[in-house]
Amino acid sequence: MDRKFVISIALLCWPLTVAMSHAAETVITEGQRIASSGAHGAAACISCHGAKGEGNAAAGFPYLAGQGSAYLLKQLNDIADGVRPSPVMQAIAKALTPDERQAVSVYFSALPHPFDAAALAADSDRPVTERGEWLASRGAWDKNIPACNQCHGPAGTGVGTTFPALAGQSKNYLIAQLRAWQTGKRSPLPLGLMPAVAYQLSAEDIEAVSSYYAGLPVSARAAVSGSQK
Ligand code: HEC
Ligand code: HEC
Repeated sequence: MDRKFVISIALLCWPLTVAMSHAAETVITEGQRIASSGAHGAAACISCHGAKGEGNAAAGFPYLAGQGSAYLLKQLNDIADGVRPSPVMQAIAKALTPDERQAVSVYFSALPHPFDAAALAADSDRPVTERGEWLASRGAWDKNIPACNQCHGPAGTGVGTTFPALAGQSKNYLIAQLRAWQTGKRSPLPLGLMPAVAYQLSAEDIEAVSSYYAGLPVSARAAVSGSQK
């Protein structure tokens, strides 16, 4: 290709590229501001979800860091609309404007997830013995339960922007979510996927699979601030 032509295309595109990266930066900065200071009277997100969005497993506050931005945004909308009832979060989610929900979702999504990906990969060849890990990696086809990891990724590390990670998430939090679907207290969307799975799980299954995911290794940083499960 003609060198002059390439240069002029580059010069033409340059302001556009700068404008686009500037816009992304503004969204992240806005998200960080909300996370650390709150907005319109809503409490700072980091006071419960941790300085780096790593959560607080003992208190049952989920981690947000590294979860897909579309997933986080859907949860804030669901909580604000009451289709995912949350006495703790509803007023907070409602206080944010749609743009602010978007910005804070993009911000937390861009932070590193708290699970230890290297330790999980090194561990992947271990034979599957206990119930929770079996459900996660194989499912229970006699009960119409697909393997959780088919949608939540290898070792529950999440897939794309809509299938959240479960690895290293608070055990009590995971149990509460599965029960919420069983009792119609969390949005069935997308496609009723999670209610279909949750209805098939016994109380023992819920305990076992939540224990398994909560017990997966988290990075040293998240282990310090997120404390024990
Ligand atoms: C007082 C503590 C507290 C504060 C402050 C707080 N949260 Fe939460 N958040 C929770 C709890 C607890 C849950 C779990 C839902 C429940 O049990 O009600 C949650 C759940 C969430 C979820 C769903 C996570 C998932 O994996 O589905 C998102 C998203 C979220 N919060 C975002 C935020 C944002 C953004 C802010 C700041 C604007 C914030 N939270 C402030 C306690 C808090
Ligand atoms: C067919 C796909 C699919 C399968 C299989 C599946 N999930 Fe999910 N799961 C989803 C989707 C999609 C969401 C996000 C729901 C939403 O956006 O509100 C989700 C969300 C969750 C959440 C909420 C996470 C959070 O941060 O709040 C938990 C807990 C969960 N799944 C557990 C499981 C378990 C345990 C299994 C296996 C027994 C399983 N899932 C199997 C698709 C699936």
